[in-house]
Amino acid sequence: MDDRIIPKPLLAQPSGGRFTVSSNTVIFVDDRSYESAQHLVEMLAPALGVKLHILSSAPELNYIALKIDPLFRGLGDEGYLLQITPSCVDLVAQTRGGLFWGLQTLRQLLPTRIFSRSQVGGVAWDIPCGTIEDRPRFRWRGMMLDCSRHFMPIEFIYQWIELLAIHKMNVFHWHLTDDQGWRIEIKKYPKLTNIGGWRKETLIGHALSKTKQTCDGKPHGGFYTQDQIRSVVKYAAARSINVVPEIEMPGHSQAAIAAYPHLGNIGEPIEVWTSWGVNANILNVEESTIQFYQDVLTEVMELFPSQFIHVGGDEAIKDQWKASPRAQARMAELGLRDEHELQSWFIRRMDKFLTSHGRTLVGWDEILEGGLAPGAVVMSWRGEEGGIAAATSGHDVVMAPQQRVYFDRYQSENNEKEPLAIGGFTPIEPVYQYEPVPAELDGKFAAHVQGAQAQLWTEYVPDPAHALYMTYPRACAFAEVVWSGRQGRDFPEFLPRLKLHLQRLKLLGANYRPLDS
Ligand code: ACM
Repeated sequence: MDDRIIPKPLLAQPSGGRFTVSSNTVIFVDDRSYESAQHLVEMLAPALGVKLHILSSAPELNYIALKIDPLFRGLGDEGYLLQITPSCVDLVAQTRGGLFWGLQTLRQLLPTRIFSRSQVGGVAWDIPCGTIEDRPRFRWRGMMLDCSRHFMPIEFIYQWIELLAIHKMNVFHWHLTDDQGWRIEIKKYPKLTNIGGWRKETLIGHALSKTKQTCDGKPHGGFYTQDQIRSVVKYAAARSINVVPEIEMPGHSQAAIAAYPHLGNIGEPIEVWTSWGVNANILNVEESTIQFYQDVLTEVMELFPSQFIHVGGDEAIKDQWKASPRAQARMAELGLRDEHELQSWFIRRMDKFLTSHGRTLVGWDEILEGGLAPGAVVMSWRGEEGGIAAATSGHDVVMAPQQRVYFDRYQSENNEKEPLAIGGFTPIEPVYQYEPVPAELDGKFAAHVQGAQAQLWTEYVPDPAHALYMTYPRACAFAEVVWSGRQGRDFPEFLPRLKLHLQRLKLLGANYRPLDS
């Protein structure tokens, strides 16, 4: 029965026979599981063409029982036990989250056409009998989406989350600010979106292209209102997904400086960036700038209940600090030796601020360079070294190495066959074979690896269909990396499951890159 499921469950024991879902099947709930039952009803309704009834007293047979039992035997926060007999289905978990993942498995055990968005006739909605016991390997199973380089419509954010849920991923890292656009409404500083949310045009072709560079002349932009963000966070939470916002600082901040030039170093107005890459613009280190960003984080914390708040910290070019008498004076005043320490001072201020509000700072691995802030979690993207260094100094880490889990890279060695991408080559198999715990770490250090995260940067990804083409099916392989055990990971065994799974994505209307035949 686990030959139908992605990500592969921990244990599956078929017992023969089938349970058939019909319009007479009822969902049996306890006080805690009513919301999950509603979710199941909505999940099955389009293809079945009926909404199953929810009951709180047990029928004799032909029911799906959903039970949340906080004392339930050792499957952890997110585990579940699914038992299927010819007369009933029993799903039990310790939490609503565990139950939700169990529902995803149940959905995949049904004939593939259950994923259809319209009624399907003539199908026996059979589920194979047996027992599935399951829980995730890692607690951080993340996917990052960059909505700065290209603004993604709000409807797509919902689809993105829906697809994460199907793959039992539980962190949506939302990259909301960068040089090319500020995408989150901040009430106190409206120019961040009114000005910083728009660029006048966008580079055509690759930023490293040797031929003469031109822009398209078309304004690009947009932002998410606070109401929209609250709805997204709620929608994700109902699907056991935590939304981790990222507000970049002190680099990757050109859009913010364009909106509020006093945040910069050069004393001249600049525009929201129209090209790609890394540039010299960096926030200044005035107390007023620290205050400005803490004001931003205050609104961010109101919107996102997430324990983790990401402050970027990557690719901060220090040239403007080196050239600025003010920054140099600040370094002397603070007793800092170099600009790396100045960056660490900046991040530490944010760490202290977030910690005092009960939150945890996350940053890209550059935040290690001038000394790591005490509470920080490190996201290791420049390979594994940052993650190893952070874990051995007692910090939690999330592994996100670009060579293995950056989905803006090419999916074919023959780039001519693919849409323009950032470069590199990361086909599905190395994603599938990726091991998040570096071999150098053992014992208590390995335990600092909270999980892994795949990234979709969108410089060369202009719209939702293209975003899904880059993400799937690599994300299906990645889901198994972070959910399933390390034992028995076998690419030839995965492929037929993936082929079946791609039919589901098709029925859902989700774009993906076809497998190489
Ligand atoms: C990154 O890719 N600059 C985190």
